[in-house]
Amino acid sequence: MGNKFVMVGGGSTQSPGILEVLRQRAEELSLTELVLYDVDQERVDLLGEYTKMYYAELGSKVKVSFTTNIDEAFTDADFLFMQIRPGLNKQRAIDEKICLRNGVIGQETCGLGGFSFAMRVIPAVIEIIEKVKEICPKAWILNYTNPEAILSEAIYRVFPDAKVLCICDMPISIEGAIAKYFNKNLRDVTFKYFGLNHFGWWTNIYDENGQDLLPVLRKDVLSGKIDTLLQSNEETKEDQYWIDTYRQMVSLFKRFPEYFPNCYLQYYLTPDEMLVHDDPTFTRGDYVMQGREKRIYDECRRVIAAGTAKNSTLHAGVHGNYIVDIAHAIIHNTRERFTVNKKNHGAISNFDPEAVIEVPAYIGSMGAETINVGEIPTFQKGLMEMQKAYEKLTVDAALTGSYQTALEAVMLNKTVPNYTIGKKVLDELYEANQNYWKPLA
Ligand code: G6P
Ligand code: MN
Repeated sequence: MGNKFVMVGGGSTQSPGILEVLRQRAEELSLTELVLYDVDQERVDLLGEYTKMYYAELGSKVKVSFTTNIDEAFTDADFLFMQIRPGLNKQRAIDEKICLRNGVIGQETCGLGGFSFAMRVIPAVIEIIEKVKEICPKAWILNYTNPEAILSEAIYRVFPDAKVLCICDMPISIEGAIAKYFNKNLRDVTFKYFGLNHFGWWTNIYDENGQDLLPVLRKDVLSGKIDTLLQSNEETKEDQYWIDTYRQMVSLFKRFPEYFPNCYLQYYLTPDEMLVHDDPTFTRGDYVMQGREKRIYDECRRVIAAGTAKNSTLHAGVHGNYIVDIAHAIIHNTRERFTVNKKNHGAISNFDPEAVIEVPAYIGSMGAETINVGEIPTFQKGLMEMQKAYEKLTVDAALTGSYQTALEAVMLNKTVPNYTIGKKVLDELYEANQNYWKPLA
């Protein structure tokens, strides 16, 4: 019997890369039916029609359909790949501008941009998972929706028994860059990592002989031999944001050389350096809308109008392969190692056992079994504890609608300097998100 996959948020600009990997690897996934589901009729029509043509013309046997009807989409589903964005990039850019005008980080997963996005996304995702429980309770949900750190905290709290894995492609992307630096195959290198999503560190990088390469990387960075890990043949090479980010990540390692940092720590450890570059009149959200969004939907329109997808190619990258690799590991019970977000339950021995953390895990048909980290040092633990308290209070605020809790959450975000700014940004974000946040009282 074949597997039915559903893309939840199928009309998203993040879909094409996943769709391409699903097409290429349909056989090994026993993928026979694919549904693009979205609440946005126009976008799901465009990407859905495009995908149908693209798959068919390349000889795919997969039955492709698209719909805005959730019951129809979820019936008999085996896997749901979820990546939704209530308010689209338009709302992302509004949040970024409010934050930046007030002199604080507005990034959509870090700082108060992340807070606002969480307030929009948590109620929407809870509704979707309720539907999964009702319509296709046996299905696995692989979630890419951001802000993954806060959302995973909400998901595992509200649905402790649900078959959900919360994932992010940033650790594997950085690991790929590190492996490349050492001229190794990614699969031959074993990484030890701990933290929260977009807030973690690598402690060891073992090669196939068990030699730890982290001290080598440290030496190369401290001696000035390298100042970035991004290489000219990588996917992100043309995007100035990622060029800058990979440099900043190495620069952070130089200043905190104990462990290698996840790049998103740039917003917490060097917010002043980030704010110098961030333009409150043209943000990352604007960039994505004018770039990726426009390119993708224009291409769908062109192909549909031409009546053929023969001059169109989708690009399969890390993002698409990572989620498909995880589905593959579940289907074939491979027990391979992936980094995921799950409840700690002792993996980090000196951290809240009920908190969701990001660590490597072995994945098979029963889900993910996290790998023991042991004790973590005071510096990282202190940062993580404050961040986790912020994440938990954000979930509380999203679920209860308590203004006071929202304010407390905001004050715990390290990017917020004081009460005056914290409250002002919170109030402005609330005002701008009336259609999305639960009313606060
Ligand atoms: C990485 C992160 C994602 C994030 C994306 C940014 O893949 O892991 O969490 O969404 O980068 O994408 P964008 O191009 O929309 O800024
Ligand atoms: Mn991510």
